[in-house]
Amino acid sequence: MSSVLDLQAVTVRRGTKTILDSVDWQVNEGERWVILGRNGAGKTTLLQIAAARMHPTAGTAEVLGERLGRTDVFGLRPRIGLASAALAEHIPAAETVRNVVLTAAYGVTGRWTEAYEDFDTERADDLLAAFDVLPLAERVFGTLSEGERKRVQIARALMTDPELLLLDEPAAGLDLGGREELVGALSELASDPASPVLVLVTHHVEEIPPGFTHVLLLKDGAVHRAGPLTEVLTAENLSEAFALPLIVAHGGGRWMARAAR
Ligand SMILES: Nc1ncnc2c1ncn2[C@@H]1O[C@H](COP(=O)(O)OP(=O)(O)OP(=O)(O)O)[C@@H](O)[C@H]1O
Ligand SMILES: [Mg+2]
Repeated sequence: MSSVLDLQAVTVRRGTKTILDSVDWQVNEGERWVILGRNGAGKTTLLQIAAARMHPTAGTAEVLGERLGRTDVFGLRPRIGLASAALAEHIPAAETVRNVVLTAAYGVTGRWTEAYEDFDTERADDLLAAFDVLPLAERVFGTLSEGERKRVQIARALMTDPELLLLDEPAAGLDLGGREELVGALSELASDPASPVLVLVTHHVEEIPPGFTHVLLLKDGAVHRAGPLTEVLTAENLSEAFALPLIVAHGGGRWMARAAR
């Protein structure tokens, strides 16, 4: 099995603050990871490294076999799909939904002058259909609901047929129905062997889609525990990571956590 992510002692410092502290993390083909941790634990920063959008201050990070700092990140980034609130801010509100997805093929947002191949348009529409937003293809992005935007963003992140898909809190802001639909769509993606390696940052174990295989618990910028979900996502480990006594339950492919009282 080849390594998709291989982080060795990855440290990120900004000023006097250590945001990531000697993180070791290996992700292999076929794996589907969840990253959990308190606000400020370093989850988004870790995704930035995995997305080849940030270099470690110290340590080494190999992404899809390429060592950050020794490779052309502009060649690497199209091989990685990323959906995050920060990226969504750069999507022009007046862009049509179809173009939001289509422009990913060229690594740009909001450009419409490229001569798109029919093949690309078909792929964009297939992805919009897979996330149930094809009827919105002609609408402009700015008019979509939060849940519709999230699904369009994931379709966009998949447009380049990436080998690695990184999702930073894709269910944030969704209502219950929207969350359940997204969990279902991500579960389907997880169970398809043709899908890229998936890494999902979330705040809620209830949002872990069935089919996800591994979890990384981040605490204060360091790896608290990492490994197969059923081994690592225990009440003890989660309580330690969140510094809060928690009860964890697992059933029907889904997870649940609440404070122990
Ligand atoms: N450029 C920076 N300079 C100083 N501190 C930073 C910088 N970028 C991030 N941080 C800090 O690093 C910590 C980790 O940030 P990060 O966004 O990775 O956390 P997170 O786990 O994604 O949190 P959340 O759950 O709130 O999204 C935070 O305390 C943040 O304030
Ligand atoms: Mg974050």
